[in-house]
Amino acid sequence: MVKKNIRVCCGMTCGVMGAGKIMRKIEAETGLKAGEKNDEVDLNYCNCTGNCHLAPTAAVNGNFINEAKEETILTDIEEAAVREPQDPGIIDASVEEVLNNDFLGDL
Ligand code: FES
Repeated sequence: MVKKNIRVCCGMTCGVMGAGKIMRKIEAETGLKAGEKNDEVDLNYCNCTGNCHLAPTAAVNGNFINEAKEETILTDIEEAAVREPQDPGIIDASVEEVLNNDFLGDL
């Protein structure tokens, strides 16, 4: 199994467009909470990736998942995990940034 570094954008646009629901779906599947990791998955929020027009966005092993949907995110993660990375420079969000975007839990 390929180890997955999963990041969900916690920027304003992605938050409004449902990033919180995407994260909840991944958390339910992996049994992890944002900021946790195990031998297979490292799960966290990241800062805005610059793809706001394609929100909500996530990234897996440096590959973007644009216009992420709850219904397909788990399949999208598996596909993104094995592609060559597009952008390995995705920056994790700080705890303060996630807490400041507390609207994520409400969506
Ligand atoms: S807010 Fe998510 S890509 Fe910009």
